[in-house]
Amino acid sequence: MSWKGRDVINILDFSREDLDLLFQLANRYADEDYRGNDLENRMAALLFLEPSTRTMYSFMSAVYRLGGKPITLSKTEASSIAKGETFGDTIRMFDSYSDVIIVRDRREGAAKYAADIAESPVINGGDGAHNHPTQAMIDLFTITRYRGSVDGLKVGVLGDLKYGRAAASFILGLTIYDPDTIYLISPESLRLKKEVRDYLDRVGVKYFETEDLTDILPELDVLYVTRIQKERFPDPLEYERVRGSYKIDLSILSNAKDDLMVMHPLPRVDEISTDVDNSKYQYYFKQAHNGVYLRMALLKLIMGD
Ligand code: NCD
Repeated sequence: MSWKGRDVINILDFSREDLDLLFQLANRYADEDYRGNDLENRMAALLFLEPSTRTMYSFMSAVYRLGGKPITLSKTEASSIAKGETFGDTIRMFDSYSDVIIVRDRREGAAKYAADIAESPVINGGDGAHNHPTQAMIDLFTITRYRGSVDGLKVGVLGDLKYGRAAASFILGLTIYDPDTIYLISPESLRLKKEVRDYLDRVGVKYFETEDLTDILPELDVLYVTRIQKERFPDPLEYERVRGSYKIDLSILSNAKDDLMVMHPLPRVDEISTDVDNSKYQYYFKQAHNGVYLRMALLKLIMGD
């Protein structure tokens, strides 16, 4: 399917062929540290109604690098949302001011709702605990860039699999490929959501749930670490029970494969010790850096000539 004008709501809307094309362009941009005027005279609206560093600013950087212009709204108190304007009307306005809308909102389904209203393509920058498709694209791109493919790999996903949208989208994204096994490592109360597990069952991807990393760590090719999503817990006591459940440091990693990739969508709080930062296992900063090239490629395919 052609990329042109497409909405990006859920990673599962994309095929392996779609992602191949995207990663090919992102690889080129990364190799050349590309800048150009591909999106000259194009405007991108960034509507970020939840905190963001990487998603918002890497999208902005991507727009600038391709010669486009970003329009941003991230403080609701500085816009008419503070006067009671609805999300739908805000989307209608951004639709008339720009050629693509990138939206982050705490409500599940917000991006889909925006896409139903807007004529311009809508990119989901995260909707509550639900989806984060462009993060999944970055994650899959990062593995492909350094390992050639996701096929055949043993991938561990650790942390908050219940509220983490990056984790959920990454896990769904893995099913587009043919990984050997997905290991889901979390406290019992933060198990992967049933709907995502059901999907894994349906497509027949082999997965294994555990609370303990120790036994499986030596098996892993990729360890994808996530933050416990404090802000999404309905009960602060529930958070207190699981905070600090996992901390990856160099001594733990002494049992890992030599070429293990430790990934993280970031921000990290305390789940990866800074002693991993300068080690061979560290891929999380590369992953964040790759985000700019991936998002450039995405914008180019959706909006370019
Ligand atoms: C993630 C998010 O916002 O879902 N961050 C990101 O976009 N890289 C992960 C998180 O907040 O833990």
